[in-house]
Amino acid sequence: MKHLIAPSFLSADFAHLQTDIEMINNSDADWFHLDVMDGVFVPNISFGIPVIKSIKKYSKKPLDVHLMIVEPDRYLSSFREAGADILTVHFEACTHLNRSVQAIKATGAKAGVALNPHTPVSFLEDIIEYLDLVLLMSVNPGFGGQRFIPNTFSKIEKLCRLITEKHSDALIEVDGGVDLQNANELIKSGVNVLVAGKTVFSSPNPVETIRQLKLG
Ligand code: DX5
Ligand code: ZN
Repeated sequence: MKHLIAPSFLSADFAHLQTDIEMINNSDADWFHLDVMDGVFVPNISFGIPVIKSIKKYSKKPLDVHLMIVEPDRYLSSFREAGADILTVHFEACTHLNRSVQAIKATGAKAGVALNPHTPVSFLEDIIEYLDLVLLMSVNPGFGGQRFIPNTFSKIEKLCRLITEKHSDALIEVDGGVDLQNANELIKSGVNVLVAGKTVFSSPNPVETIRQLKLG
C-alpha cells in the first residue's frame, strides 16, 4: 500500500486551529494525528475530549488519536464519541492490554498500540493479530520537535517480521522526529504511516512539505 501521512496537531497553532484543519483538509495528508497527554504518563499536558470534538466538526479526514494517558480504558468511549477513528493506547499504560484492545474495537474504532522507544517489539507477540496499528515511538513521548532515535529502524525490521509471521494486518506508524531526510528510508523499511509535527507546521509551506512526505 502507499504510505499515509498524519500531521501531528501538537505543533499546530492552537489559536487558529480551524485554519490548520482546513490546510490539512486541502493537502495530501491522510489522517489528523491528535496527541492527548495527561501530565502523568508523560511530562506534558496537551488537549482532550472537547478539543477533539471541535476538530471533528471541521476535519474531512480520519482522526488518529494517540492517548498518552494512564488508565485509558476509562475514556475510550468518550474519545470515540468525540470523533476518534483510530484509538491508540500505550503498551506501558495498560495492565490488561487485551481487554483495552477489545474495548477499543467494541466502540467501532480501529485499535492501535504504541511502544515507547525502550519497549521491545517482541512484547507484542501475543496481541499483534488483534491490532489494526502499531505506533513505534521514535522519540520519548511528551514533546514535539525532538530528535529521531536511530534504533527505531531495528524495531521496524523486527515488527515487519512479527507481522508477517503472525499474519497480522497491523499498519506500522512511526511517530517522532520524522523529517524530509529520514522519511524515504522509513518508507523503504516498511513504515505505513508517517506522523510529522514540527516538520509540517514549522515549514514555510506546510502543504508542499506534506506533498513531499507523501511522495517519499
Ligand atoms: C510526541 C507525540 C508526537 C509529536 C511528534 O509525544 O506523540 O506525535 O507531536 O512531533 P514531531 O514530529 O515534531 O517530532
Ligand atoms: Zn503522537
